[in-house]
Amino acid sequence: MKLLIDDANIREIKRLYDLYPIDGVTTNPSILAKAGGNPRAVLQEIRAFIGEDALFFVQALALTADGMVADAKRILEICGKNTIVKIPSIPEGFKAIRILHAEGIRTCGTVIYTPMQAFLAAKAGADFVAPYVNRIDNMGYDGVKVVREIQDILVNNHLNCMVLAASFKNSQQVMELCADGIGSATAAPSVIDNFVNNPAIDSAVRDFISDFETATGKTAMAEF
Ligand code: E4P
Repeated sequence: MKLLIDDANIREIKRLYDLYPIDGVTTNPSILAKAGGNPRAVLQEIRAFIGEDALFFVQALALTADGMVADAKRILEICGKNTIVKIPSIPEGFKAIRILHAEGIRTCGTVIYTPMQAFLAAKAGADFVAPYVNRIDNMGYDGVKVVREIQDILVNNHLNCMVLAASFKNSQQVMELCADGIGSATAAPSVIDNFVNNPAIDSAVRDFISDFETATGKTAMAEF
């Protein structure tokens, strides 16, 4: 499963890239608004840091297919040709995805709450579909189950499209999808930090160090 950061704060992106095996960054208009500053400069700074080959998702703003196509081209100008344009999975979005696919521009059908939205976006030519796990949970449904249904739809219909599971509240939601081999997931820094947040692990690491010190009187490998 590819792992991406769902955030536009460059300090957080740098911190997480330093620690974890990260494959890219996803943003949406709300995330950019929260990051502050000029969105164009923020996007360019992220692209410069992660490199031109890393997965980078940026969302179109328009509500019409023509507007989304224009947004996509602008996004590619700002963020580089490898950028994947997130298009809301609504009827005008399916049309935009079809047009962009024909032009060789990669897209991600986003704002996905139902398997049918994912099917239509993938069939229109989206390279990724982004179901919103936690938002689906909050509506009283099972977000992880919806992602599994979407994965089955993609496989059973031979659609060349990868799931980008999104909108996570906790690491358990991510872990369940990882066990299923879902293609990719994007999570906020706080969720990623909690992947390995367990007192038992910290305690085990500290015990190894103190056992070594007790037995050898040495406090570091270099002194050994
Ligand atoms: C990613 O594609 C989505 O924009 C994002 O994960 C939504 O997350 P949220 O539900 O935490 O806003």
